Amino acid sequence: MRTLITNGQIVTAVDNYVADILIDGETIALIGRDLRSIVGEVDRTIDASGRLVIPGGIDPHTHMDLPFGGTSSSDDFETGTRAAAFGGTTTIIDFAVQYHGQALNEALDVWFGKAQGKAAIDYGFHLIVTDLPDNRLPELKGLIDQGVTSFKLFMAYPGVFLVDDGTIFKAMTEAGNHGGLVCMHAENGVVIDVLVKRAIAEGKTGPKYHALTRPTKAEAEGVHRAIAIAEMANSPVYIVHLSCYDALMEVQAARDLGLPVFAETCPQYLLLDDSLYQSDDFEGAKYVMTPPLRDRENHERLWRGLRGNDLQVISTDHCPFCFKEQKELGRDDFSKIPNGGPGVENRMSLIYHHGVVEGRIGLNRFVELTSTAAARIFGLFPKKGTVAVGSDADLVIFDPDREQTISAATHHMRVDYSAYEGWKVKGVTETVLSRGRVIVDNGQWQGKAGDGGFIKRGTFS
Ligand code: URP
Ligand code: ZN
Ligand code: ZN
Repeated sequence: MRTLITNGQIVTAVDNYVADILIDGETIALIGRDLRSIVGEVDRTIDASGRLVIPGGIDPHTHMDLPFGGTSSSDDFETGTRAAAFGGTTTIIDFAVQYHGQALNEALDVWFGKAQGKAAIDYGFHLIVTDLPDNRLPELKGLIDQGVTSFKLFMAYPGVFLVDDGTIFKAMTEAGNHGGLVCMHAENGVVIDVLVKRAIAEGKTGPKYHALTRPTKAEAEGVHRAIAIAEMANSPVYIVHLSCYDALMEVQAARDLGLPVFAETCPQYLLLDDSLYQSDDFEGAKYVMTPPLRDRENHERLWRGLRGNDLQVISTDHCPFCFKEQKELGRDDFSKIPNGGPGVENRMSLIYHHGVVEGRIGLNRFVELTSTAAARIFGLFPKKGTVAVGSDADLVIFDPDREQTISAATHHMRVDYSAYEGWKVKGVTETVLSRGRVIVDNGQWQGKAGDGGFIKRGTFS
């Protein structure tokens, strides 16, 4: 199958020019002007005049079909990857979970089972490690050799995911020695646990107490500690879902010293704020995620961090739970509200609109933050994350001028609310190719569950 995309404005992390792209099979074969006259017969031509042609988005932080908080996230690999594609994301890196007593491989196999036959776009896995006695340490290399080259460790959720500092140190040392990367959920979960129990005992049970019991200092302390342990372990570290300026200052200080410290933030921490918890009804439960939404003062500071490269990636932490029946599990106790929110479909348009259209970042930086940087950090580049000869033909034809209104009534995520209900954004994903196949054609679904493949990722360099 040969496809020719003509006259698109090709934007990568570094380029911006108008040209044609010839796709042969799954990869980009040729880029140049007026290719029609030299390439001969093709199976399909797509006119991209007036459109951006960008590398498919890479969302390195999703939770499809995650058992959490007494229920499971409402998107599985079929619905979640289809929604991702509609929003211009062609690769996700999802989090498999190792439960206590499980071998790391056994845990990974469960997530392979969840994704196979369902994912409509390519996917990789990080592994959440919760139980790492010394005899399991060599298993980390085993996973790295299979292309699962990053691990998530939690400083929060005691009794569920939290691991102690010694385990973090050992995991970072071992992973670092073999080209693996540790992703840290950095929050002081032990202090938070005390605050949560105290609030509940005082009858403070509404959603707003979720935010009030997870102060920014608890996140900043976690980030500081994660960086210090990584430095002692002589390993890189990647801070996930960084939400506030207090935490960003820790990353900034480390990067100023030249340490290999990386961090992502998410659209919700750039665009939504803690006033959403204030209503007396239960609506605030829609925004119960960890870390919580912060004071809006943080927003422009995080954007500045993105501009200055102290933050390298925008992921979503897509972890949806329906308001009905799932978020409602915590109606009488905020600590029982399943933590997480939807977003995989909205990321590219939200960041294009609030970043590029509103003048906070340029076009190249938009591509870098939503695709290229994640590809580089997580061992996918240059197969993914750019538009280049030999790269996978994961391409998004993006209409920079069209507007859309975000709504649960029209989104494709399997969740009964939108965190951005009624928001108008300029910049819409029109057509999406995944390894050369058109999976979204002018807004129409053409993809197929199971066509997405597992991507064996390279090591961190
Ligand atoms: O609230 C969140 N973020 N849920 C997903 C789990 C995590 O910590 O990323
Ligand atoms: Zn987390
Ligand atoms: Zn997460």
